[in-house]
Amino acid sequence: MSNKILVAYASRAGATAGVAEAIGKTLSASGAQVDVRPMQDVNDLTPYQAVVAGSAIREGKWLPEAIQFVQTHKTELRRKPFAAFLVCMTLAMPGAEKYRQHVATWLEPVRALVRPVSEGLFAGALDIRKVPTFSQRMKFRLSVLFGVWSEGDHRDWDAIHAWANELAVKFGPALS
Ligand SMILES: Cc1cc2nc3c(=O)[nH]c(=O)nc-3n(C[C@H](O)[C@H](O)[C@H](O)COP(=O)(O)O)c2cc1C
Repeated sequence: MSNKILVAYASRAGATAGVAEAIGKTLSASGAQVDVRPMQDVNDLTPYQAVVAGSAIREGKWLPEAIQFVQTHKTELRRKPFAAFLVCMTLAMPGAEKYRQHVATWLEPVRALVRPVSEGLFAGALDIRKVPTFSQRMKFRLSVLFGVWSEGDHRDWDAIHAWANELAVKFGPALS
C-alpha cells in the first residue's frame, strides 16, 4: 500500500498554489510521498492514502472547481484522512484574529460534504493588476485606499508550515 499524500489546490493568481507547494514540502520532509496538483488535473484518488484540498477565496467562497472537486470525490474522501484549507485577504486585515471565526464559516459547504480532520485558514496575497475585471480592480483600489486591505504578499509561512506539521502527525497512523 502506498503512503502517498495528495495536496490539491485551486488558485487564480498563484498565492494558493504557493501555499499548497509549501504544505507539500513540509509533508515530504516528514517522510511521505507527496503530489501537489491543481484540482482540475486530478481524476483518481485511489493512489492516495490522505488528501489535502485548498482553495483561494472569492466572494466568501472556495472557487467553483474546488467545491466541485470535493463533490465529485466525496465518497472516496470520506474513506481517507482529509484536510481542507483556504487562502484569503480577510486574514491579512489589521486585527484579523477577530475575523477568524467568520472566515472559518467559508468552509461550511466543504464540511457539509466531507468533514475535514483539520482546517487551515491562511492570509493570501493581493496584486490588483491580476484582478480580472475593471470594476473589481476599482473595488480593490478603494479597499486599499481606505486601509481595509493592503497590496502585497501576506502569506505567513511559519503558520503554513506549522499546520502542515500538525497534519503530518494527524495523517501519520494512516501512512504507516
Ligand atoms: C475577485 C476577487 C474576490 C475576492 N474575494 C475575497 C473575499 O470575499 N474574501 C477575502 O477574504 N478575500 C477575497 N479575495 C482575496 C483572495 O482570496 C486572495 O487574494 C488570495 O490570495 C487569492 O489567491 P490566489 O492567488 O491563489 O488566486 C478576493 C480576490 C479577488 C481577486
